[in-house]
Amino acid sequence: MDFQYYTPTRVVFGRKSEEQVGALVRAQGCKKALVHFGGGSARRSGLLETVERSLAAAGVEFTELGGAQPNPRLGLVRQGVELCRAEGVDFILAVGGGSVIDSAKAIGYGAANEGDVWDFYNFVRAPKACLPVGAVLTIAAAGSEMSDSSVITNEDGWVKRGYSNDLCRPKFAVMDPELTMTLPEYQTMCGCADILMHTMERYFGREAPMGLTICMAEALMRSVMENARVLLAAPDDYEARAQVMWAGSLSHNGLTGCGGDGGDWATHKLEHELGGLFDVAHGAGLTALWGSWARYVYREEPARFARFAEKVLGVAPQESEEATALAGIEAMEAFYRAIRMPTTLAELGVQPTDAQIEEMAEKCSVTARGALGKFRPLGKADMAAIYRAAR
Ligand code: NZQ
Ligand code: ZN
Repeated sequence: MDFQYYTPTRVVFGRKSEEQVGALVRAQGCKKALVHFGGGSARRSGLLETVERSLAAAGVEFTELGGAQPNPRLGLVRQGVELCRAEGVDFILAVGGGSVIDSAKAIGYGAANEGDVWDFYNFVRAPKACLPVGAVLTIAAAGSEMSDSSVITNEDGWVKRGYSNDLCRPKFAVMDPELTMTLPEYQTMCGCADILMHTMERYFGREAPMGLTICMAEALMRSVMENARVLLAAPDDYEARAQVMWAGSLSHNGLTGCGGDGGDWATHKLEHELGGLFDVAHGAGLTALWGSWARYVYREEPARFARFAEKVLGVAPQESEEATALAGIEAMEAFYRAIRMPTTLAELGVQPTDAQIEEMAEKCSVTARGALGKFRPLGKADMAAIYRAAR
């Protein structure tokens, strides 16, 4: 299929690359940065100090806003917008993971447009601009450092919504694999799961992407799986950290979808409701749901799942495509268990009631604005059935 591929983000990859951040902001012609970070890991590791030293050395003024949490909240975004206006901030530097970067993008929209920033996430109107955003990445996972999207949770109703627009694509992404070595194992593995899923969503569109893209996607997934296993045993392995980190960006910057139809994204949308209501880690929410989604939809085109089984998971062809497809789904779940990720909601630690399942399905169908997903378009009853199957 015809496609556009737009990745304007400068990637600065490697050891100590965070020391270049001041010059990178300066090169954008910006004078005052908002240094945005999360719950404290960047401060504890000394990264914040390094970044701020680099800004000062480059003559860039800055002000700080910490406290972005996983499933970043609208309340802090609004606070950030006020701060940017009050302090004359012209650049937002996110130091952290997907949550911090997404929060930074939302602040960028809020500061560069009139009115309430939630309007953009609520599909009421579109932003005309976004303050420039840059990222110093500390966890390989969401791919927000090169993506066009940001996902924000509104505390009013606990609605988690993603909004995509090229305006927010980061100007640069600084990626030092060493920075990810302080991650707890759970977060590293959640990240690997999310990276895999960003390519799997594109792989399972109604139309498969073009052949070259499919081959690149399969190689990326095999590499992430192999390196996740390495990191389980050796979390300080630089080579594995580096490969996972780069895979995280490539998996969500559009590369593994070229020539496809944009992908399915049902598992992601179902997970976002879970994250909004139960505040679970995104990657773990995905693995808890994926098997139930896959079993619900694979008969639509068993051949695609059979190819996935053989090329990505090394499953030997079975007596039928359906059997190979199912063996692949089981092999994927076995991999999730091997990296200590949940494959059910109970393992994830949540037990949604029937009413909560209805609520999530209802919210999800509002977000989907029609049928959810492409591989097999899902209605509200299908969504509820998948949540129930995942219990
Ligand atoms: O807040 P701190 O103290 O920094 O702790 C974080 C957080 O608790 C910690 N952490 C990050 N780097 C660390 C570290 N701890 C020790 N050492 C380090 N080097 O890890 C925890 C998780 O961080 P978070 O930023 O939430 O992780 P992730 O990158 O997985 O982001 C998840 C968010 O991104 C959204 C998700 O829905 C979720 O809200 N997504 C964003 C996307 C996008 N913008 O393109 C796409 C994704 O599909 C996803 O939906
Ligand atoms: Zn994701």
